[in-house]
Amino acid sequence: MVLKIELLEIPRHLRSSFCCGKDSLDNYIRKQASQDLKRRISTIFVLRDDPELDVLAYYSLSSYAVDITALDQEFAKRLPRYPQLPATLLGRLAVDHRHKGRGLGELMLVDALKRSFKASEQVASLAVIAEALDESVLDFYINYGFQQFKQNPMKLYLPMKSVEKLCLDLGV
Ligand SMILES: CC(C)(COP(=O)(O)OP(=O)(O)OC[C@H]1O[C@@H](n2cnc3c(N)ncnc32)[C@H](O)[C@@H]1OP(=O)(O)O)[C@@H](O)C(=O)NCCC(=O)NCCS
Repeated sequence: MVLKIELLEIPRHLRSSFCCGKDSLDNYIRKQASQDLKRRISTIFVLRDDPELDVLAYYSLSSYAVDITALDQEFAKRLPRYPQLPATLLGRLAVDHRHKGRGLGELMLVDALKRSFKASEQVASLAVIAEALDESVLDFYINYGFQQFKQNPMKLYLPMKSVEKLCLDLGV
């Protein structure tokens, strides 16, 4: 298996049979992702097993503004009182159901965090924000140190300092 993570290319990457079990995420990569990429709403990175071109997993990244009052007080108290602060949104992350449980979700999450950290050295971002579609996936993010927002527990954040530490600890 030669796994490659690369920016979505249309029509090169094959998305029509992607199925993670969540309709909104399946429809997104099949129908919406190329438009978002073209319009610079999100970047979408896909995983494939070279030389195959089928998408095994994907994630999306965008710029984001986070409301300071939504953050944990311990984290927020060290921040300036600007109403909104810059962040990076990991809007979607999905692994095809035929490949779940093989570490690909972690591979994609770590890749997204590494890319977010690298980008934050050029354009500041204080945290990576993730959105869980339902409660069944919350622990997936919490296990990597993400914390839930007070007002919206389906939204989670990982301070960029923690992202940096995680990347260092994992040697990526
Ligand atoms: C959540 C998802 C990305 C995990 O992908 P995966 O490839 O099966 O996960 P991995 O094999 O890399 O697992 C990494 C770790 O997370 C754990 N994990 C996986 N899914 C989990 C879940 N739903 N809840 C809690 N922990 C989970 C694994 O047990 C593993 O832990 P371990 O290293 O201690 O054994 C995948 O199940 C998926 O695509 N789900 C549907 C889409 C979705 O809900 N996406 C997230 C919101 S946008």
